[in-house]
Amino acid sequence: MPGEQSAGPIIREDLRGRDLVSAKDLTRDELGIVFEVAKEVESNLDGFSNVLRGRRVALLFAEPSTRTFSSFYIAARRLGGDVLPLNEPEMTSLTKGETLYDTLKMLEGYGADCIVMRHPSRGAARFAADVVSAPVINAGSGSQEHPTQAILDVYTILKKRGKVNGTSLGMLGDLRFSRTVPSLAYLVSNFDDVELHFIAPTALQVRQEVELYLHDRNVRYTKVTKQQDIPDAISRLDVLYVTRLQKERFPDPSEYERLRGSYKVDMGMLRYAKSTLGVMHPLPRVDELDTEIDRTPHAWYFDQARYGLPIRMAIFALVVGETR
Ligand code: ASP
Ligand code: CP
Repeated sequence: MPGEQSAGPIIREDLRGRDLVSAKDLTRDELGIVFEVAKEVESNLDGFSNVLRGRRVALLFAEPSTRTFSSFYIAARRLGGDVLPLNEPEMTSLTKGETLYDTLKMLEGYGADCIVMRHPSRGAARFAADVVSAPVINAGSGSQEHPTQAILDVYTILKKRGKVNGTSLGMLGDLRFSRTVPSLAYLVSNFDDVELHFIAPTALQVRQEVELYLHDRNVRYTKVTKQQDIPDAISRLDVLYVTRLQKERFPDPSEYERLRGSYKVDMGMLRYAKSTLGVMHPLPRVDELDTEIDRTPHAWYFDQARYGLPIRMAIFALVVGETR
C-alpha cells in the first residue's frame, strides 16, 4: 500500500558493504536484484523511510552535477538517512591544497557509512575505495565510468522495452570522452544478443579499452564513422543513446571548436528509425538533441532521468540499508 512502511524485502545481503566503482563490478544476477528492489521502491517511494535510519551518507562532488547529486541526496533522505553534502569543492579544504586521501579520511573519521563521490580523475573512485573502509559509490570518475548512470540506463531499457536481451543499441556523439558510454557498454554485455553500434566521427569514437572488453565478452559491435552510413545504422536500432560533446575533457579547446556541431539528432535523422525507437540521453543536453523530439514517443530521456531516484534508493538500501 502506498505510504505504508514496509522495509522488509528491500533489505538483502547480496550487495551489503560493497563498493560500486565500475559497471564491471556487477553480475547480471546482482543487477537483477537492484532492479527488483528499485521496482519495489518505485511502487511506494514514501514507504521505506526507516531503511537508512541512523546511517550517514557523504556526497563528495568535485565536479558539477544536477541529476546525480540531487537524486542521491533525495534518495538518502527518503530512506531516512543523514546526508553530508560536499558539492562545492571550492568551499572545502581541497582548495587549500588538502589531498583527496586526507579528505576521505576525515569523512571516514566522522562516521560516514557510505561515500558517494564524483571526481575529475580517472581512478579516483578506485583510489577512494582502496583507502576507506566504508563502501564507495562512483558517481563519475573523469571520462572513465559512471556506473549508477548505466544501471538506470539499463533499467530504462527494461521498463520501456520489457527486455534487454536482443536490444540493438546505438550510441551516438562523443564516445571518446563520455563516461556513461563505457559503463553502459560494460553493463549490457551481461545480456544475450545485444548488438552495439558506435556512431561518431573517428575523432570521437569509442576508446580501445571498451572495444577490448566487448571483444573479450563476445559482444557484437560496429563502428559507424561516415555520415552517409548513419541512416542505415539508425534504421536497425531499438534504442539510440545520444551523448553531449564533453567540452570540459578536451585537452585541446580548438579540437572541441572543430567538432562542435558535427552531429545533431533531430526529427530529420529519425525519419529512418523504427516507430518504436527509444531515444535516450544521460543529460544534460546542449545542442546535440533537438527539443522537437521531446513531444514524440521516441523521447525516453526524462523518464530515464526520473528512474535515477528508485535506482539510487535501491543501491543505498542494498549497500548500507539498516537491518536491525
Ligand atoms: N551527466 C553525465 C556525466 O556526468 C553526462 C554528461 O555530463 O554529459 O557523465
Ligand atoms: N546524468 C548525469 O550524470 O547528470 P549530472 O551530471 O547532472 O549529474
